[in-house]
Amino acid sequence: MENRGNFATKLGIIAAVAGSAVGLGNIWRFPYLLGQNGGAAFFLVYLLCVVLMGIPVMMAEMSLGRMGGRNASGAFKALGRPKWSLLGKMGVLCAFLILGFYYVVAGWTLEYTFQAIKFDFIGQTPGDLADSFAAFSTHNIRPIVTAVAFMIITCLVVSFGVKKGIENSSRMLMPILFIFIIVLAIRSVTLPGAMEGLKFLFKPDFGKITADVVLSAMGQAFFSLSIGMGCLLTYGSYVKKDVNLENTSLQVVGVDTLVAVLAAIAIFPAVFSMGLDPGQGPQLVFVTLPHVFNQMPGGSIFAIIFFLLLVVTTLTSTISLLEVVTAYFGEEFNMKRGKASVLASALCVPLVVLASLSLGQLGHIQLFHCNIFDFLDKITSQIFMPLGGLLICIFVGWILPGKDLHESLSNKGKIKLRIWSVFYFLVRYVSPVVILLIFLGQFLR
Ligand code: PHE
Repeated sequence: MENRGNFATKLGIIAAVAGSAVGLGNIWRFPYLLGQNGGAAFFLVYLLCVVLMGIPVMMAEMSLGRMGGRNASGAFKALGRPKWSLLGKMGVLCAFLILGFYYVVAGWTLEYTFQAIKFDFIGQTPGDLADSFAAFSTHNIRPIVTAVAFMIITCLVVSFGVKKGIENSSRMLMPILFIFIIVLAIRSVTLPGAMEGLKFLFKPDFGKITADVVLSAMGQAFFSLSIGMGCLLTYGSYVKKDVNLENTSLQVVGVDTLVAVLAAIAIFPAVFSMGLDPGQGPQLVFVTLPHVFNQMPGGSIFAIIFFLLLVVTTLTSTISLLEVVTAYFGEEFNMKRGKASVLASALCVPLVVLASLSLGQLGHIQLFHCNIFDFLDKITSQIFMPLGGLLICIFVGWILPGKDLHESLSNKGKIKLRIWSVFYFLVRYVSPVVILLIFLGQFLR
């Protein structure tokens, strides 16, 4: 087979997979969805989804990738099931659609880094912060420039294969980001009136659990863990046989969940302390955090480092998304890496432009009651990814011989598996059924 990159060390894999998983999904999307969907009740359903679907699908998808040893689509052909490569192609399409809106938000993190460097937040009231976010995000040109800048950086990293360097640095930077979020969380919970925020986060009102809340919690679990669309399948194909994928999955799920929870603790007490609306949507984090920085001694320097770290974690996620498409173009159409990633990025540009404009000028264009940005977000996280996860469970649980799967996961018995029977049971019976039921729940309303 052609020369495929491999992750050299076990830590390298965990860093790469955690790098893909931890990103805007944890720090931007999780808090704002939690705010819109009733707080603690959403949180609880989210945790259930992570355990019942997240862990099994992640393990299944990575082992599938390692067994197939190719890109998301080619892996199925390599395993002798060419018809299933359609599932991989759906993943490639999904990666495109995600990049379409993810780059827009990634661009916002660049803009906020510049604003932090210019000390723009100082002296701004929560009202000013909300106005300045609205002015920026609905502008016709500025957010497109920052999104395309982010896209170019991602494309350069993927084409020159400097991923190793990024992964090594993200292995060091991620713990620092972690400490920063903890400091933010401490400042937030010590603001006046913070208790309300903690109650919102941890005291569930079960009456708030509706079919919609459950669907968005499931979507968030898939989105945050990067599962169900071929990303971890592609990464799995770079993983050597002696790596314990059970441990890798459990550790990544643990880190991803912890970062999301800490981000929520950093945000909600501050939201309630400022008297803001927790359900205000995508702008939540960008309006709230600068206010928290303003309340901290040395807050302006802290803000600069925080946003820089956020850019790096976002970058490790966009790299993993672009890698899905690049590996597919490269292997299935025999393209050179550089050409494949440039082509993939160029194809994203129209989506990025439309997604960004749909928050301002093109807001009147509605698809299924959503603007283009929300449409891309919803169709990927609430349809493509869970559907992909469902099909991965069926393939791994019912089509691949269990013996082969066990052999691969345990490296022919050399790795002691701790949760094999639970995992196999979940993949075969629980995860697919739960995903189906949540889909059906939409029609039974
Ligand atoms: N998991 C990433 C995040 O939380 C987003 C992502 C989704 C990355 C799908 C890769 C694949 O930000």
